[in-house]
Amino acid sequence: MRIRRAASADRDALTALQHAAYAENARILNATPIPLQADYAKILRDMEVWLADGAVGVEGALILEFRDEDMLIWSVAAHPHAREKGVGRELLALAHERARESGRDTIRLYTASVYERNIAWYARRGFAIESREALSDRVKVNMVKKLEPSEGKHMAGRLKGKIAFCTAAGAGIGQAVAQAFLDEGAQVIATDLNAEGLAALKGADCRKLDVLSTDAVNAMAKEIGGVDILFNCAGFVHHGSALTTSDEDWDFSFNLNVKSMHRTIRAFLPGMIARGGGSIVNISSIASSVRGLPNRHVYGASKAAVIGLTKAVAADFLRENIRCNAIGPGTVQSPSLNERIKALAASTGVTEEAARQSFVARQPMGRLGTAREIAMIAVYLASDEAAFTTGQMYMVDGGMTI
Ligand SMILES: NC(=O)c1ccc[n+]([C@@H]2O[C@H](COP(=O)([O-])OP(=O)(O)OC[C@H]3O[C@@H](n4cnc5c(N)ncnc54)[C@H](O)[C@@H]3O)[C@@H](O)[C@H]2O)c1
Repeated sequence: MRIRRAASADRDALTALQHAAYAENARILNATPIPLQADYAKILRDMEVWLADGAVGVEGALILEFRDEDMLIWSVAAHPHAREKGVGRELLALAHERARESGRDTIRLYTASVYERNIAWYARRGFAIESREALSDRVKVNMVKKLEPSEGKHMAGRLKGKIAFCTAAGAGIGQAVAQAFLDEGAQVIATDLNAEGLAALKGADCRKLDVLSTDAVNAMAKEIGGVDILFNCAGFVHHGSALTTSDEDWDFSFNLNVKSMHRTIRAFLPGMIARGGGSIVNISSIASSVRGLPNRHVYGASKAAVIGLTKAVAADFLRENIRCNAIGPGTVQSPSLNERIKALAASTGVTEEAARQSFVARQPMGRLGTAREIAMIAVYLASDEAAFTTGQMYMVDGGMTI
């Protein structure tokens, strides 16, 4: 069996396969399953379709829809005469890989309550029933699976032997980066103000740390000693213009978004230099010197300062084999983004869905980024693959700065 990405020319083969695979299901359901009603030309255009070629033609199909927060397995189907050959198993394994590669750690799918064997098959593979919906002709069963850190992943050990210190690793981008560092074989010290969020990072040395405290940062650097990677992520998005940003707002944002990086760099640099060098990765934003966005007055100013700080550190310590780079994410799904969406909805009187859409509308790709999509560039910058790279800002923004 050879699995390949389908092209538009595969429409007839895909339609035939789906119809053959779902004919039996139509009988059991006593109604038309959704895949039999589909327009496969549209599906080939809008979704990701994989076909399994066997000795007698197409034996299986996998249809995936990538959404902001998850990946939906729209269909996984095997031809009746290819049953018991492991086609479904292989396609499901590919689905796990694609979820991971595309930065989704949640996979969803739906089926119908009468397909009990189907539900049991997915349950054996870690899917749980999330909800049931009564439709006119069936009860739709929605299933979900949260991927374990090692599932669907090819570990290359790109950070093997390295020690990484991370701030704000309890949620969002910071957590995804710490996880990616772990996956690539680094020894990770994961810190956050909120220690609860760190529990998800299996195998990390998790510690509570408030990066606003110079004493706490200094004490931790002294205790830990030399590291190879310093990842600075802590930051806060203040909403407001020059007219609505108080001095306190300004000072808090600069303290958390910029001075915290100055603190950790000053504390950890001597140990990094003593180890022969290392890589510092700072999270900035495209809302900075790169782009001005509405109501990001102090946020944009502070994230521009992160770029300046990054270049200054890169210039000062280049000869000590210290590299320092920044990442500029576009709009990324994270717990604090959900809070910003709620707050915007409340302050403007629109629904949360409409507020979410206003964030999505900023993204030319028509979707939010995932934290894992940011983590991948952090792995690169932290690794020796980026040995010739310093003082730069890397945008990962879904086309926001084209
Ligand atoms: N999410 C986005 O769209 C986006 C876009 C561009 C840049 N960023 C930047 O990425 C970084 C992470 O943002 P996110 O949205 O992924 O995560 P988040 O805002 O959802 O989580 C931030 C984490 O930082 C921790 N934190 C807050 N104050 C802290 C402190 N004083 N000390 C230590 N930890 C503290 C929180 O406990 C939390 O775990 C921030 O610097 C943010 O400005 C985010």
